Order: sequence, then C-alpha cells, then structure tokens
Amino acid sequence: MIRRNRILRQSAAIRAMVAETTLTPNDLIAPLFITEGSGIKEEIPSMLNYYRMSIDHTVKEVKELWSMGIKCVLLFIKCSDELKDNKGTEALNPNGLMQRSIKAIKDACPDMVVMTDVALDPFSSYGHDGIVEHGEIVNDATVEVLAQMSVSHATAGADIVAPSDMMDGRILAIREALEQNGYTKTGIMSYSAKYASCFYGPFRDALDSAPGFGDKKTYQMDFANRREALKETLMDVEEGADIVMVKPAMAYLDIIREVKDAVDVPVSAYHVSGEYAMIKAAAKMGWLNEEKAILESLTSIKRAGADLIATYFAKDAAKLIS
Ligand code: PBG
Repeated sequence: MIRRNRILRQSAAIRAMVAETTLTPNDLIAPLFITEGSGIKEEIPSMLNYYRMSIDHTVKEVKELWSMGIKCVLLFIKCSDELKDNKGTEALNPNGLMQRSIKAIKDACPDMVVMTDVALDPFSSYGHDGIVEHGEIVNDATVEVLAQMSVSHATAGADIVAPSDMMDGRILAIREALEQNGYTKTGIMSYSAKYASCFYGPFRDALDSAPGFGDKKTYQMDFANRREALKETLMDVEEGADIVMVKPAMAYLDIIREVKDAVDVPVSAYHVSGEYAMIKAAAKMGWLNEEKAILESLTSIKRAGADLIATYFAKDAAKLIS
C-alpha cells in the first residue's frame, strides 16, 4: 500500500488544514419574522426557539446578529387578517409594517444588509403568492404588484429585494421598475429554483399564510425536475438577478451544485423552516446532537455550492463557528 488516506485524518489539526469547506458568518442570512405591536416576542409553535417579534425586539436582534458577524437579514411580515385582500394592497402601504421595519433596522444598524421578501402570500386573503381570478393565480397582474412592492421596499431603504413568488417575468419587471424609479443600487436576490415543498409548513404557521384553497404547484416547481431548475435560474440571471437561490436546501443539494456550475452570479440556498423543525424536534427527543447536526447540515449546503445560506440556525451557527 503506497497511498494511505488516513494520514490526513489523524488529528484535528491536520483535518482542519485540509478541510475543503469552511463555514463563516459571512455565508449566513438570518430570516426574521416581524409582527405588529411592541414588546412582543412570541415563539412559533412548530419552530422551537424561533420567534415572531415586534419592531423593537427585531431591532435588538439585528444589533446582536451584527455583533456576531452576521451581515444580512431577510425580512418577513405577519400581516393582520383585517389588512389582507386579494391584491395584497397592504404590501404597498408606504407606512406598512415591512416599510417601517426596514427603516427602523437601517436607522439602528445601517451597515446590515437588509433583504426583503417580495410575494403576496402574507398579504393575500387567499394565502397565495399572486392575485386570484376564477380560482387561478394570474401571472401578469401579479408581476405588476411585485414590481411596485419592490420599489416600495427600495424607497424604505431595502438593500436587496427577494422575490419568492415564482411568477414568470418578474425579475425583468422588478429590475425595470427599480431603474425607472432611480434605484440603481438596489439588488435582486431571486428565488429562482423554488420547489413546491412540504418543508415550508412551519413557515406558513409563522406568518399564518397557508393557502386557503389548493396548493402552489401551478407556480412553484415540481420536485421531480432538475433541468427545469437550470432553465428558471438562467432566465432569472438574464433578466437581471444579482443573486439566485435554490429552495429548499438539503433535499436539493444536487440542484445547488448544478446551478453553481451553470451561473456566474452568487448562489444562495434556503435551509427552510421544515428543515429547521426536523433538527429541532429530533434534538428535543434526544435523538440527534443539535450542534453537530447544524454544522453538518450547513457545511453540506455550502459544499454543494451555496455561497450564501438563509437559515433559522444563523445565530446558533455563528456562535458555534466562533
Ligand atoms: C412565500 C415564502 C415561503 C417561504 C419563503 N417565502 C413559503 C411558501 O412559498 O409557501 C418558505 C420559507 C421557509 O419554509 O422557511 N412566498
């Protein structure tokens, strides 16, 4: 035997020297759920130790994340039922919860990169990502609202808008709307290959945004498909996406790698709510070591090709890395 592979595994020091993938806080995007009111910090039942917070608590959280080396937050809003309608009118309110949150975070922590979710579902009386007509989710009318919503977030101070809806043509429409309104420095992170996944269940609890009828399979992708992910992603890059995303992450590591090999923009992956919940539940039962599961999961997502990872474990991971 002239080649002994175990030589490079024999001590922690050697393993660290030859490790091919290193996770850093710069890789992490922390999603935040924001709710109306003040002094509110409520745990999401299906997402242990994850909270919906009012703006005051959110601002504190953002400062803490920044002090831990995390550079980016991704904002989601829980809209109250009275404000929901079919067109997501509240999403465009210049004084809406999202717009106020962006301003408050930018005032308190100006260097934090603020990304905002762009989709109608939290604001939709139907819980769908688009406008509903005759039981169908209509594309082009929805895209118009998404473009206006993006401009509204940019006006409030968002650095990067993140359309998560999977309508056709929305990246180009958003880019044009940003240009027309003078927002030439606002980025777009496109949820390019977003699959219709059961792993979003706990997120829909967090925002009370589950679809009221049907499912999301006419706009989100079929999990049986691989080529389609490349088609979607390449089109989004052509339309002007600055960052593309694959979502969910761990059941789609093959897609992350293929996308990474196919595009010349940064690739992000969303380690979604159901992936978080599975680890949390198993750890609570004593069936998994939570810290090890977090590091192994996130490192595997980065190894697959993700430059950025949106994860509810961002804070835990930043602690574990340091
Ligand atoms: C909605 C949206 C969803 C997520 C992010 N944006 C849910 C959905 O598409 O139904 C899921 C995130 C998660 O599960 O963590 N546009």
